[in-house]
Amino acid sequence: MSEEEKISMSDAIEKARDAIYRFPLIPIRGIPLMNHIANNWDSIWAFQPHPSDLLIATYPKAGTTWTQEIVDLLLHNGDAEICRRAPTIIRIPFLEIFSPPPIPSGIDLLKKMDPPRVIKTHLPLQLVPTGFWGNKCKVIYVARNAKDNMVSYYHFDRMNQTQPEPGPWDGYIHKFMRGELAWGSWYDHVKDYWEERDKKSILFLFYEDMKENPRREVERIMHYLDMSLSDDVINHIVELTSFKVMKENPMANYSFIAGPVFDHSISPFMRKGEVGDWANHFTPEQSKMFDEDYAKQMKGTDIPFRTQI
Ligand code: A3P
Repeated sequence: MSEEEKISMSDAIEKARDAIYRFPLIPIRGIPLMNHIANNWDSIWAFQPHPSDLLIATYPKAGTTWTQEIVDLLLHNGDAEICRRAPTIIRIPFLEIFSPPPIPSGIDLLKKMDPPRVIKTHLPLQLVPTGFWGNKCKVIYVARNAKDNMVSYYHFDRMNQTQPEPGPWDGYIHKFMRGELAWGSWYDHVKDYWEERDKKSILFLFYEDMKENPRREVERIMHYLDMSLSDDVINHIVELTSFKVMKENPMANYSFIAGPVFDHSISPFMRKGEVGDWANHFTPEQSKMFDEDYAKQMKGTDIPFRTQI
């Protein structure tokens, strides 16, 4: 980011102090989305990607930022300097985001970028602009087990003052199970991408696999992108995208979105980065109730989620 851009970003943060509030959710085709997304839905839906664009799709808090960093490094041959040229959200625009500054509008950023672009979305499959499928764009989907995904989302909703108020943990579990959080049902989100993965040539990744063997998953992404990098570069990318290194990287840890928008003192964006933290949040009763409902909602699917590694 240039000095000029940094100044305009900090101006924007100052202005945001008055404009930020927890946005209400408005359904678009039954999916609850923040009002600024719903109000701009027509221009999001009309977005026309280029066939060379790459989409990284996730349910919120499934490992989006991690995957974005891996992809950016792969595309730049592991060059850490180039990948620190700007915060994640500028390097890889967030397609549907339209909130007031300092969070830049995805569509505005994309208009200024030439393809091939890497684009982030949390939209469920049926709301992804159809050009991505028509143009056969590459799509990487990252899924995370429901319990850890929800815990991460809960802490994010506490710290991100633009997200709806999470309320108490016990009630949050029910909102998650009913698909009432922003971007809707986790269950439908993962099932729909899973079912379409072969037909649409989607690379379907799991957060737990990335934790278990990051090198293997970095290589999977590399092959999907039809690339071949040296072992040294791959090892370097694995190191640069470790939780520890990303947590200290101001261009990857969202520290550029500070208070009042992201209040990292409530919970840092790079929080724990673990598999199994759910066990520190669910009581045995909550876990049992959740598992019973999970079995019903996921009946008939064979997605190999793991809640421990
Ligand atoms: P936790 O809240 O469990 O720590 P997203 O980018 O989709 O919003 O997901 C954020 C989650 O991914 C957070 O989970 C964050 O800590 C975790 N994360 C980000 N980078 C990571 C990395 N390099 N390794 C492991 N987890 C990472």
